[in-house]
This record gives sequence, C-alpha cells and structure tokens, in this order.
Amino acid sequence: MSGTEHTASAGAGVNDGAGVSRTERPVGGGVTVRVPAKVNVRLAVGAARPDGFHDLANVFLAVSLFDEVTVTPAATLTVTCEGPGADLVPLDRTNLAARAAELLAARHGISPDVHIHIAKDIPVAGGMAGGSADGAGALLACDTLWGLGSTRAELLDICAELGSDVPFSLVGGAALGTGRGELLTPLTVGGEFHWVFALADGGLSTPAVYGEFDRLTAGRAVPVPEASPALLEALRTGDATALAATLANDLQPAALALRPDLAGTLAAGLAAGALSALVSGSGPTTAFLVKDAGTAEAVAKALIESGTCRAARVAGSPVGGATLL
Ligand code: C5P
Repeated sequence: MSGTEHTASAGAGVNDGAGVSRTERPVGGGVTVRVPAKVNVRLAVGAARPDGFHDLANVFLAVSLFDEVTVTPAATLTVTCEGPGADLVPLDRTNLAARAAELLAARHGISPDVHIHIAKDIPVAGGMAGGSADGAGALLACDTLWGLGSTRAELLDICAELGSDVPFSLVGGAALGTGRGELLTPLTVGGEFHWVFALADGGLSTPAVYGEFDRLTAGRAVPVPEASPALLEALRTGDATALAATLANDLQPAALALRPDLAGTLAAGLAAGALSALVSGSGPTTAFLVKDAGTAEAVAKALIESGTCRAARVAGSPVGGATLL
C-alpha cells in the first residue's frame, strides 16, 4: 500500500548554502532503509515531570507514508535530503539521522564516516515523526553497513536516547508507548484503517506545543494518562467506526491555540465524510479516519477544494517499521 499525493508539493533542488546539494543522490555500495510515518490514535498526556518531559499513554499506528534513508561510506559524516519540505530539514549534526550514526559509531569505537541521504515523503515538522523515522532508518542502515549485528534491544536503546518517538519508528505496526513514549508494548490490529492527512503550511515545534499544554493545564490536576479499553478493542477488532469514537489527542487544544486555522481543516474533513478528525501528534498535520479507500480519495479531494490545507495525502495502516530495501 502506498500514499497518494493530491497536489504537487514544492520539492527538492534546494542548496543549503554550505555547498551540499539537497538533491545529491548516493551512488552504489549503500544500504537503504524505508521507514513509516505515524499517527497517534490516542495521545494521553500527563503532568510535566521533573525532567521536563511528560508521561504519556501514546497509542501509535504506523501509516503508509515513508522516508527512505540511504547510507554510503564517505570521508566524513554528511547529510543530504530531497523531497517535499527538504529545505526545512537540518543537514548538520542536529539531524536525528546524523545523531543516530554518531551514537552507534561511538558505542562501537568507530568513526561515523557515512553519507546519509534522506528521500523525504513524510511531512516535515508535521507531527508524524518524520525526523524520528530518519533517525531509526539511519540507525538500522548504519548497523547493516558496518556489519555490527546489533540486537533489537540494543537498537531500541539507542532509539530511546535519540527521541521519544524513535523506538516506534523502528518497530512500526501498532504499539502503546508509555514513559515519555519510548517504552513500547506491541498492540494487535485486526484490520486495515484508512486515513487522509491534511498538510498545513509551516510546522509546529513539539516543545512549543507541550509548553502550551502546560500553560493551558496550569493550576489543574492533570489525570494519569491511559489508553481506554474501548480504543484497544477497536484496534484489535479492526472496527473503524469504534476507533473513530475513541480517537483523542490531549495536545490538540494546545496545537489549536497555536494554530487556530487548523479548526477549519478539521471541520472541512468532517463535513466531507470523515468518521473522525484530530490533530496528528503535535501538529500541524491533521488526520482523518475514513471508512474505506474510496472515501479517503473523496475526502482528500474535498479537503484540497476547501482551501484549508496545503495538500492532502491518503494512507493506510498499520504498516511495518524500519525495513531494509
Ligand atoms: O523526545 P523528543 O526529543 O522527541 O521530544 C521533543 C520535545 O518534546 C521534548 O524536548 C519535550 O519538550 C517534549 N516532550 C515532552 N514529553 C514527551 C515527549 C516530548 O514534553 N513525552
């Protein structure tokens, strides 16, 4: 299954000014890993912890929008990126793919001398874990290129160090993330769920959205986060109508406070026939659960025509995690 784009998104070809072409493609001898985006069907957020993170009950579902990360031996660690929004992707050591290569190499006492090329299709800064996907992809690709044979547990440990969503990008499927989202329990999904994602102009900063969550909940008792049995049962039985009734994102009021225009996108998707709508993760991408593939195409078209989003993508779920190509 693969995502379908409904508008021609602005694409690649941007030079970052540091002499690195974002469309430069690796040649031969490389290892490529494909990694999915995610949507949170339940993002329950607890109070801020002393370390600044929030305890979560985060139900992840991997969806069929993918980045491809290719690593090839090089004189030094470099990152290039092509695809929609590539000009927004950092190419320095802050890129999670670069950090993944550095962390893995450091653990094995070797140099992270690779060229990492990211073919990007996951919305950038969109609340769909695109950066996390690139981190997980680079980690698996480097482990393979360098012949390290790390265990799944060793890779997951590095993923958790890279970021809260990175472990899920590695494993895919469906999972409940607790702690700050990095402690995963796999979930059974009994059928295919169909989605439309409305892409917004610009991005939202995840720390800014959590900061707004803290501001909105200040002085109130924030309940211990949990995923409802009804939601887990809807996933287990593959029942889209039941899942639609339980979708919820505690970050949504914060994302809407920072981006009030997203309310119009949510309303447009619901008016077009989506079963349910919510902000994806920290946004600004909005997610629409629909009953079948045909409805997905119709809702995507209606969203574009509503003028409330930049583009709309159709995708299915669940899909597997980081996969060697
Ligand atoms: O883990 P990650 O680096 O992706 O998190 C980015 C930011 O999102 C954190 O610095 C924090 O501000 C916020 N965050 C949080 N609680 C979580 C996950 C992320 O507050 N469970």
